[in-house]
Amino acid sequence: MAMSDSYEQAGLEIEPLHPALGAAVRGLDLTRPMSQESFVAVHEAWMKHLVLVFPDQPVSDAQQITFARMFGDLETHHQDIIKSAREPEIFRVSNVDDTGNLMEADHPTVAQITLAQRWHTDSSYRATPSMGSILHGIEVAETGGETCFTNMYEVHEALPNRLRQAVGDRKLCHDFGHLATLAPIKPLSEEERAAMPPVWQPMRRRHPVTGRTSLYISPIYNDAIEGMEQAAAVDLIAELTKFAGRPDFVYRHRWSNDDIVMWDNRCAMHRVTPYDLGERRVMHRTTIVGDGPVIAA
Ligand code: OGA
Ligand code: MN
Repeated sequence: MAMSDSYEQAGLEIEPLHPALGAAVRGLDLTRPMSQESFVAVHEAWMKHLVLVFPDQPVSDAQQITFARMFGDLETHHQDIIKSAREPEIFRVSNVDDTGNLMEADHPTVAQITLAQRWHTDSSYRATPSMGSILHGIEVAETGGETCFTNMYEVHEALPNRLRQAVGDRKLCHDFGHLATLAPIKPLSEEERAAMPPVWQPMRRRHPVTGRTSLYISPIYNDAIEGMEQAAAVDLIAELTKFAGRPDFVYRHRWSNDDIVMWDNRCAMHRVTPYDLGERRVMHRTTIVGDGPVIAA
C-alpha cells in the first residue's frame, strides 16, 4: 500500500513544514485512544518526516502518556527536580514548579532546562538512548522558546570529506555529568551519578527502522572522542555542531498552546531558542525508551 493511501485510509492530512524535516498532522484527536490503523499511518509519517506537529491537542498528562505508550515503554527521569510529582513519566520542561510558581532565572532547574538552548538529542547518555520524545505545549512562550530540529541524515550525507574522515568509525562519549561543566545545575547525588555512567556510542548510526545512516552527536553531553586528544575532540564536536545547525537542515517550530510535537531522537537533534525567563513556559514531555542499542553504520 502506498504511503498516501494509508494516510487517507486513516483520515490523516499531512502537510510538510520544511524541505528537510517536519510535517503537520491533522485529522486525529489525541485525547481519545488511537486505532491501530491511525498508529500505523502516524508511524509511517514519523519515519518519513522525523518531526510531527499535531496542532490543537488539549490532552491531559494521562492522555499524552497513553498516546506515547503506543510507540514503546516510557522513560522516567533520573532526577526528581525534572520529574512530575504526579506522573513520573512526565518530564517537566518548565520554568514553573510543580505547584505552579515561576522559578527564579538562577534556580538550578531553570539553569538545567536552559541548557536545551544548545543542540542535543534526548537521553543520549543512557546505554540505550531514547527512541523519541513527545512534547505538549501547555503554556507556550511569546518572547521566544521556539524549538529547532535538524535532520541528521541530511547532515551526514552533506558532511565535507574532511569532517567525514575525522568522524570515521569513531565513538563519542555521552556523559550526563558533562552538563555540570556548562551551567550551575543541581549537583547529582551519588545515586544519580552511579545510575548514569558515561557511555560510548558510534558517531555514525544506522536507524533500526529506515536503515538510513545519520551523524549521532549530542553536544551538551559530549567532550571526548575515541582515539583523539581532548582539544581536537572538542573542536571537532563544535565544528560538527555548527555544520548541523545550517538553516537548510533545520525546521524551527513556533509553538501555539496545545501543540504536540514529536521527534525521533535517533536521527534528529533539537534545541530551543532563548525566551524571557520572566515569562511562564510550561511544556510536558514523554520520552520513549529506545528500541535497542545504537547500531553503528
Ligand atoms: C526537550 C527539549 C526543548 C523545548 O523537551 O527535550 O529539549 O522547546 N525541549 O523546550
Ligand atoms: Mn531535549
